[in-house]
Amino acid sequence: MARKFKRILLKVSGEALMGDKGYGIDANTVDFMAKEIKDVFSMGIQLAIVIGGGNIFRGVQASLEGMERASADYMGMVATVINALALQNALEKHGIPTRVQSAIEMKELAESYIRRKAIRHLEKGRVVIFAAGTGNPYFTTDTAAALRAMEIGAEVIMKGTKVDGVYSADPVKDPRAVKFSTLSYIDVLKKGLGVMDSTAISLCMDNNLPIVVFNLRGKGNIRKVIEGKKIGTLVRGNNDSGAKKKNK
Ligand code: GTP
Repeated sequence: MARKFKRILLKVSGEALMGDKGYGIDANTVDFMAKEIKDVFSMGIQLAIVIGGGNIFRGVQASLEGMERASADYMGMVATVINALALQNALEKHGIPTRVQSAIEMKELAESYIRRKAIRHLEKGRVVIFAAGTGNPYFTTDTAAALRAMEIGAEVIMKGTKVDGVYSADPVKDPRAVKFSTLSYIDVLKKGLGVMDSTAISLCMDNNLPIVVFNLRGKGNIRKVIEGKKIGTLVRGNNDSGAKKKNK
């Protein structure tokens, strides 16, 4: 089956790495993800990944509990570096060349983020993992995903979650909740649907970058999104079909 996208940005939450453990990194879960990525990598996709850190430390939560927000966010950014190194290790075990680039300089651990170098890595067939968010407090890793996607000219953000799309209410609590197959950015903002935070959504809206929200835990789901199969929820402008023209 033909692929719909060539260069994609996959957003993986930190929680996606912890499996059912409730905290930290579950080796089997990371290995599953590496295999899923290997499957699409073999399709010749250029793949960049932004990884979260919530399985180790949640900046927003810590600030609610009294920690200074900026310090808490920096701790969260460091957590994403740990996850990036774990994912890099799992991918390389499966023979996938990867490069980790960190938005906060940690030269001994990872390359620093350099946009043009990241694009060269993608062109040379390496999976690029972006760590440390945007490098700034007060920005989420979803916003980092939107920013990096734009910077590298990705055609879509694939936001992997624990549920199979965006629902009108929490499907676990409300049996009447319905899943949206498509949504506009404005709907997401107006209805307060928890797809991504409003900064990330606004950035995508202003640059017409589509977002596909899908269940990362389902086998073959990354491939299905890339093949353009109708899974998950597509978030895009009111008047477009969702496939952003490559801007380079
Ligand atoms: P090309 O120049 O396209 O061949 O890319 P390359 O990444 O293979 O070359 P480079 O010599 O830049 O990197 C070789 C290895 O060192 C790669 O695994 C990089 O991720 C890593 N590397 C490059 N720069 C840094 C750095 O500043 N810090 C760390 N820790 N690793 C780095």
